[in-house]
Amino acid sequence: MNRLVPTCDRHALYEVAVQSVQWELDFLARLYQRRNGREARRFREDFCSTAALATAWALRDPKNHAVAVDLDPEPLAWARRHRLPFVPEAAPRVRLVRADVRRPRQPPVDVACALNFSWWVFHQRAQVLAYLKAARAGLRPGGLLVMDAFGGADAEKALIERTRKARGRTPDGLPTPAFTYVWDQARVNALDRRLLAYIHFELRDGRKLQRAFVYDWRMWTLPELRELAAEAGFRDFEIYSEGWDTKRRRQTGKMHKRVSLDNADGWTASCVLYR
Ligand SMILES: C[S@@+](CC[C@H](N)C(=O)[O-])C[C@H]1O[C@@H](n2cnc3c(N)ncnc32)[C@H](O)[C@@H]1O
Repeated sequence: MNRLVPTCDRHALYEVAVQSVQWELDFLARLYQRRNGREARRFREDFCSTAALATAWALRDPKNHAVAVDLDPEPLAWARRHRLPFVPEAAPRVRLVRADVRRPRQPPVDVACALNFSWWVFHQRAQVLAYLKAARAGLRPGGLLVMDAFGGADAEKALIERTRKARGRTPDGLPTPAFTYVWDQARVNALDRRLLAYIHFELRDGRKLQRAFVYDWRMWTLPELRELAAEAGFRDFEIYSEGWDTKRRRQTGKMHKRVSLDNADGWTASCVLYR
């Protein structure tokens, strides 16, 4: 393989486009430390796809262990080929598992997450409840689960958002080209809150990866998740969102616990469910 040719592998571009791995892990680790007064060691990445978070968790400390769960063998094979061989110091402490996240996993962990709205793949209440019960059964005492959600008047409609991304690197060291990440919400049905969305990638040289990822989601609301979490046995439920710098008109990178969220704009929230 010519290692100088930028790759337009869809998984590599996805990671550059939407994942902020170290920032997410800092947030998760802080939540656990604050709650328990000690560091989290065992981590589970549900809906892991290419296991970016799980691997980074294991890389942070030789005492850390991670399990990454996904139903689809294809991204797991990608992680086995393009990620784990390049981190031999951490790879033995990362377990990739092909399974449904609704099956409880042992041994239990300190911190689990379902990020980038992955749990919205479940359209039925019973499916979300089954996931929450399994996720809780796979947590140690003191453990927590973080799930994200988005919404707001600006976000819950057909829309196209384009974001320019700079050149980057894949986990195995290939360059990724500069590209535009396109989030395309094609249809939102108010009747059942079903959202059909696509991710497209547009490269500067004119190449396009149309519909690189397709999502058929239900847009769950925060009170629905809060109620389901209580029903599944979680003790506490908190909502965090990133601060907004009004002067610079951009997010601050700092997470704040919320008791209310203005629905006028679009918002993204991290829900923390304590075992
Ligand atoms: C949007 S990707 C998540 C990627 C990454 N974890 C992130 O945070 O950006 C969603 C993943 O969930 C997986 N998935 C969907 N239903 C699942 C289920 N019931 N159990 C396990 N994985 C599932 C899909 O195969 C897909 O790889």
